[in-house]
Amino acid sequence: MTDKTEQDRVLIFDTTLRDGEQSPGATMTHAEKLEIAALLDEMGVDIIEAGFPIASEGDFEAVKAIAQQSQNAVICGLARAQLPDIDRCWEAVRHAKRPRIHTFIGTSPLHRAIPNLSQDEMAERIHQTVTHARNLCDNVQWSPMDATRTEHDYLCRVVEIAIKAGATTINIPDTVGYTAPRESADLIRMLKERVPGADDIVFATHCHNDLGMATANALAAVEAGARQIECTINGLGERAGNTALEEVVMALKVRNDIMPYRTGVDTTKIIHISRRVAAVSGFPVQFNKAIVGKNAFAHESGIHQDGMLKNAETFEIMRPSDIGLKETNLVMGKHSGRAALRAKLKDLGYDLADNQLKDVFVRFKALADRKKEVYDDDLIALMRDTASDPDGDRIRVKFLRVICGTEAPQSADLTLTIDGEDHQVTATGDGPVDAAFNAVKKLVPHNARLQLYQVHAVTEGTDAQATVSVRMEEEGRIVTGQSADTDTVVASAKAYVHALNRLLVRREKAGTDGKEVSYKVVS
Ligand code: KIV
Ligand code: ZN
Repeated sequence: MTDKTEQDRVLIFDTTLRDGEQSPGATMTHAEKLEIAALLDEMGVDIIEAGFPIASEGDFEAVKAIAQQSQNAVICGLARAQLPDIDRCWEAVRHAKRPRIHTFIGTSPLHRAIPNLSQDEMAERIHQTVTHARNLCDNVQWSPMDATRTEHDYLCRVVEIAIKAGATTINIPDTVGYTAPRESADLIRMLKERVPGADDIVFATHCHNDLGMATANALAAVEAGARQIECTINGLGERAGNTALEEVVMALKVRNDIMPYRTGVDTTKIIHISRRVAAVSGFPVQFNKAIVGKNAFAHESGIHQDGMLKNAETFEIMRPSDIGLKETNLVMGKHSGRAALRAKLKDLGYDLADNQLKDVFVRFKALADRKKEVYDDDLIALMRDTASDPDGDRIRVKFLRVICGTEAPQSADLTLTIDGEDHQVTATGDGPVDAAFNAVKKLVPHNARLQLYQVHAVTEGTDAQATVSVRMEEEGRIVTGQSADTDTVVASAKAYVHALNRLLVRREKAGTDGKEVSYKVVS
């Protein structure tokens, strides 16, 4: 019999770096993955799913490096139900202080049809692969993918086989985001009641958000006995994403009166990691997103403001500081010095080394020269823009001048520094952004299709910085780029170039895997 404290503890399994990164366009660089893993470890996440080691050399190296740097968290890698996958996964995670192998196979009728296995053949495969994993590692997680659409009898049968073969955690994925809270709870309850050995393992819940019910489904599963929630920062993930870590963790904290469970997460780290994941994945957080959206703690209507001034609890169920948001928005300006900037950035979660601060300070001064008041959001945008691509940006915008007016076409004079050499070009277009993009394309010809172009004003006022996000697709490779500037056209050109730099990295990686790819500079 486990004691009460153990029963109340819900393990947080973060899969931002695996299921989240799998989302088209959310690819992170090696250094970015290491940074996010370190932040997750520091915030008290119990298990970090660091990647899918067999997927590519890059994935393998990232999982291995995350395993090597891990401090407290269990480091987990994903493997299909195949022996070479499991061996490769173990090769990567075995460097962790606390490694875990997570192996899975689709068990619903639709998924069983893909490898064309009968129920018996699949059961045998599960026995063989889980046994193999357990012979390598004493911490093994097994998932029947699409569990919520698997026949109950068959689900019970395969879960029992996995437990007997040595699985220590059984994860129940709602792969297509199809279940609803009551059903999610009933499924866990049914498995706990019917499967022999169920009391000796941890049940996990892994929900996708296609119907917007991922958080509710995960919490319902916990109430029925699941003790591990699989989730991602900002709910990042394919299609509508995964359960958002910040939502389940804060729900358990704020409504502990009706959901008396504990996690080990330091919630004051939430806002910083949310911003970092948004920046490196290229998936901005929607303004009205629960917990971490820009408006989540904003009370703008007159009635709300009045109530808030009298008593914050009138409209606030949690304090901004609970997630690490500072309540002050101390304005900085061109007279602010380096020490003030360092202190402000530290407040915002950026602890900079001297050389990094030097670089950021130059950019801050340039911004403060153009903009009288520099707000927190300006600094966050500046930090996002400053984070130099660790893979090395081969292309940089050196100069851009756009001539616009009521008469089309508009024209752009552009100088790009490409691999250290300057290249200049003039191009026209239907509007200033189109002209700037055409100029970039003239210097760096490519066939990538622009899938998304989005502009947001960071703060109010006509001198506000614009943050621009760009998403491009080339031969199935999706990349995103972001930038911020008080000039929307400059921010747009830089975001476009940022995405192109990422595309070059992706092309080069594909090249080392055997496909010859290169890019040509035309000047
Ligand atoms: O959604 C899913 O089924 C998954 C599994 C690999 C666990 O991500
Ligand atoms: Zn998933």
